[in-house]
Amino acid sequence: MSKRKILVTSALPYANGSIHLGHLVEYIQTDIWVRFLKMQGHEVHYVCADDTHGTPIMLRAEKEGMTPEALIARVHSEHFNDFKGFHVHFDNFHTTHSTETRQFSEDIYTKLKSAGFIVMRDIEQLYDPVKNMFLPDRFVKGECPKCEAKDQYGDSCEACGAAYAPTDLKNPYSAVSGAVPVKKSSEHFFFSLSDTRCVEFLRRWTREADHLQPEAANKMHEWLGDADENKLSDWDISRDAPYFGFEIPDAPGKYFYVWLDAPIGYMGSFKNLCDKSQLDFDAFWKKDSTTELYHFIGKDILYFHALFWPAMLEHAGYRTPTKIFSHGFLTVNGEKMSKSRGTFITATSFLEQGLNPEWLRYYYAAKLNASMEDIDLNLDDFTMRVNSDLVGKYVNIASRCSGFITKRFDGKLVDGDEYHQLQQMVDDRFSSWRPTAIEKAYEDRDFSVAVRAIMKYADEANEMIHELAPWEIAKDTSRDKELQRVCSLGIQLFYILSCYLKPILPETVKQIESFLNCEPLAWPTLTEAQPVSSLLLPAGHAINSYKHLMTRIDAKKIEALVTANRRTLTATTTAKPVNNAAATIESIAETIGIDDFTKVDLRIAKIVNAEHVDGAKKLLKLTLDIGSEQRTVFAGIKAAYDPEQLKGRVTVMVANLAPRQMKFGMSEGMVLAASNSDAGSGLYILSPDDGALPGMRVK
Ligand code: MSP
Ligand code: ZN
Repeated sequence: MSKRKILVTSALPYANGSIHLGHLVEYIQTDIWVRFLKMQGHEVHYVCADDTHGTPIMLRAEKEGMTPEALIARVHSEHFNDFKGFHVHFDNFHTTHSTETRQFSEDIYTKLKSAGFIVMRDIEQLYDPVKNMFLPDRFVKGECPKCEAKDQYGDSCEACGAAYAPTDLKNPYSAVSGAVPVKKSSEHFFFSLSDTRCVEFLRRWTREADHLQPEAANKMHEWLGDADENKLSDWDISRDAPYFGFEIPDAPGKYFYVWLDAPIGYMGSFKNLCDKSQLDFDAFWKKDSTTELYHFIGKDILYFHALFWPAMLEHAGYRTPTKIFSHGFLTVNGEKMSKSRGTFITATSFLEQGLNPEWLRYYYAAKLNASMEDIDLNLDDFTMRVNSDLVGKYVNIASRCSGFITKRFDGKLVDGDEYHQLQQMVDDRFSSWRPTAIEKAYEDRDFSVAVRAIMKYADEANEMIHELAPWEIAKDTSRDKELQRVCSLGIQLFYILSCYLKPILPETVKQIESFLNCEPLAWPTLTEAQPVSSLLLPAGHAINSYKHLMTRIDAKKIEALVTANRRTLTATTTAKPVNNAAATIESIAETIGIDDFTKVDLRIAKIVNAEHVDGAKKLLKLTLDIGSEQRTVFAGIKAAYDPEQLKGRVTVMVANLAPRQMKFGMSEGMVLAASNSDAGSGLYILSPDDGALPGMRVK
C-alpha cells in the first residue's frame, strides 16, 4: 500500500461555550477515522483550533469582566482538557486569534481583492445608540412580526418559526443594552460570490470527484440553482468596530467577519504545526498539491464550507478540499438536547462523574455512518449496549482465557505442533475474520458497519470458548496441552479483535498491548494468498497477567449525570427593554411577626408539566408535584418563559392559598417569582439548590 499524505480537520469550536456531547459526535468521529488511517501507516495530520472572534465572544468577555484574550485563553485550556479526556488526539489544537491565521486572512483577502472579488457597498443595519455598536441579528429582540410572541430574536421566531429581518420586529430592543435600536448605514466589504467565475467554479466543483456526500451535493444544487440561474448573493465579510477580530488591511475600524477567518484557522493551525515539527506547509496547501485534505463538519455549517470556503481558496490561489464530510446532529433520548431535562450534557461533567469516555466513543461508533442523518444517544440503550458488547462480549474473552495461561503455563501461548493446530482451527473456523470488510467500513466512515462485524466476530469467539469449555478441560491435568491450546486460541482471537477496535478504544487497547506484551497494534494486513492465521501473535509468545480492563456502566451514574446537567435556567440571559423610567425597586412592606410568616406554607414543587392556555395572554398552566399530591396552578409568567424550559424544573409555591376559580379553570396555589413593579424588568421564578425535594417546606 502506498503511503498517503493526509490533512484532516474538525470544525473549530466557538470559544464562548463548553464542549458538550453534541460536539463530541464530530470530534470522536474524526478522531476514529484519523486513528484508523494512522494505524495503516499513512502520514496523517489532524488539526483543530478554537474559533475565537465575533460579537458574542466580545460581549461575553465584557460581561465576565475580562478581556476577550483572557476569556479565550481560559476556554482554550478547558476545551483542550475535554478533548484530551475523550482521547480526541489533535496533532495541533491552536486558536484563530493567532499570527498565522491573521497572516493567511490578510493574504487571502488581498489576493481576492486584486483579482476583483471584493466589492464595497453601503448597508443599513440596526444600531444600538447606547452601546454605540451595530447589532448582529441575534442581539436584536422584539415581538415577532407574524405571531407577536415577545422577546424573539432578530432572525427568527422560536414560537412560530417565522424567519424575518431584524428590522421587521415590532418594538425592537437591543439585547445588549435594552435601548431601542436605530437604523444606521455603513460601508461593508463583500466577497462577490455572485461573480460568474465563482458560480461556474462551484458548479464544476460540486459535480466533480465526489467532494460532497449525495445529500450535501443536492443542497448545493438547491443553493446554486439551474445552469441558467444565479441564486448566489455576495457575502458580507466585514464588521464595524467595536468587534473582536482582525482589522482589515488599509481599512481602519473595519474587521473581518468571524466566518471569514474561521476556516482559515485550519491553515493557521496547520502552519503552526509545520513550524513546530518541520513539515512542509506548501506541500499541503499549494494549488497543485497532491496531498489529501478533509474537513469534518456538522450539517449546520455546510454553507460556509461548501460554498464560501472552496470559492475563497480557489480564487486566492490555494488548493481546495478533497472532501467535506458532514454529519447530523445529536439527539438525546430522541429529543433535542435540553438544559431543563438535563440532557445538555457537557464533556466535563461526563468525565467528572467518573464515566469512561470510551463508552461514549464506542456507542457513537456503533451508531455512526457516512450520512448526514441525526444520531440519537438513548441513555438506556447506551448502558445496555456498552455492558453487553464491550464488557459482556469483548473483554470477557480475555478474562476467561488469560487466567489459565498465566497460572498454568507461565504466561506462554502454545508453540510447535500445538501452534499449527491452533492456526488450523483459526483458518477453518474464523476465515471470515479477514480485515478487508472492516477496513472498508472504517475508510468509508461506516463505523456502525465495522462495529457490527466486530461484535459478530466476538460472538463467534465466545461461542467457541463456550463449546470447548476450558474450565472443564482444566479439571483434568492430563489435558494440559489442550487447555493451553484452547486458551491460546481465545487470546489470539482477542488480539485480532483488539486491532480492529483500536481506533475506537485507544486507551483500553493501550492497556491490552501491555497485557499482551506486544508492540503498539498496527492495522492488520493480509495479501490475497495469506490466511487469517498469519495475523496471529507468534508461536510461544508470552503474555502478562490480565488486569481488569473495563467496568460495566452503573445506571445510577447515568442518572447522576443527568441530574448534574439539569441547569436552573434564568428566564433570559440578555437585557430586557429599558422603560423610560429607571427600573423601580419596590419599597419594603410593613413589618410582620414570625407568626404572620409561618401562616404561609411554602413548598418545594416540581413542575411536571407546563403548557400554554388557549386564549390566555399572560398565563401558563403548570402541573406541580409537591410530594403528597399534584396541583394545577395558572401562573402569569407566559411573557418570561417558554413552557418547554419549565418542564422538569424545581421551584417554590405557596401551597395553602385558597383555590381560586379562574376563567380557564381552578388555580390551586401560586408560584413565587421575582419582579419589579415596572412591567419591563422581567419575571424570574425561583430555584432551590440541588437536593431540595418536592414537598419539603420552605421556612
Ligand atoms: N465555530 C463554528 C465552526 C467554524 S469551522 C471553521 C461552529 N462552532 S460550534 O462550536 O458551534 O460547533 C462545532 C462543531 O460541532 C460544528 O461542526 C457543529 O456542527 C458541531 N455540533 C455542535 N452541536 C452539535 C450537535 N448537537 N450534534 C452534532 N454536532 C454538533 O459551528
Ligand atoms: Zn412568531
